[in-house]
Amino acid sequence: MKLDIHPIGYSFAAQVRQIDLREGIDLQTAQAIEDALARFGVLVFSGQPINDDQQQAFIEHFGPPSLVQLAELKTAKSAHPHFFDVSTVEDDGSQIDPHSARGMYLRANLLWHTDGSQAQPPMRLTVLSARCLPAAPPPTEYADMRAAYAALSTERKAQIEDMQVEHSIFYSRSKMGMKMSDWTPDAATIRPPVIHPLVRTNARTGAKSLYLASHASHVVGLPVETGRALIEELTEHATQPRFVYSHAWQPDDLVMWDDSWTMHRATPYAGSEPRVLRWSGVREVAPV
Ligand SMILES: [Fe+2]
Repeated sequence: MKLDIHPIGYSFAAQVRQIDLREGIDLQTAQAIEDALARFGVLVFSGQPINDDQQQAFIEHFGPPSLVQLAELKTAKSAHPHFFDVSTVEDDGSQIDPHSARGMYLRANLLWHTDGSQAQPPMRLTVLSARCLPAAPPPTEYADMRAAYAALSTERKAQIEDMQVEHSIFYSRSKMGMKMSDWTPDAATIRPPVIHPLVRTNARTGAKSLYLASHASHVVGLPVETGRALIEELTEHATQPRFVYSHAWQPDDLVMWDDSWTMHRATPYAGSEPRVLRWSGVREVAPV
């Protein structure tokens, strides 16, 4: 089927209309969605009151769903092996303690990041399904890392072309005050740091993009502080308003994005009404 696509950002992001994901999609539609992701990076499917089985069936069209094993994220309500909840509340409806391991872990979503860059292979696609929203939900912001790379000077592109960056979940979470004692004892063993290129080339489009995240700790071969300063500078460059799409959540939105050439972040929310976004995703098939 041909998708009904409407661009909604400056250089990327689009809304997909006239589709009901509860009915499932066929191979042709899945291919059209892949094509749209390669062009737009972020796709908004509005009015999709899906359940877990429908979300799972949808994501399976794009690859094996990623397992979610982090003890810090799992609750009885989000015990599904492939889901977790980007949530403001515990299962009993009480606010998540911002100083608990779960609270600190989720609060790091306020930092610009790319899902799963701390793993090898990293995430390729993410799907968030709005299951519960407050009256005025905080937007989620997305950055177009392809446009950001294209806007760099020739000299800067040449300088960073072959750089490799170490990513670590413990680095991003330390920015929120998480200490190693806040993690399960085996966390350091099962989540070692990984190395990814700073510049990625999209296999489908051939376009280059920056690959950054809050997990990006330092540049391999450079003094740590020098590499960190470069990562911060590039992150600031890539998240200028001209490269950003801000998504204002509506009830039953499903947002899907390509993690290989976009970054995103949550924005602060001080209200007490619950917000639950159900997360699932697909990894790259090979190391990056
Ligand atoms: Fe995220």
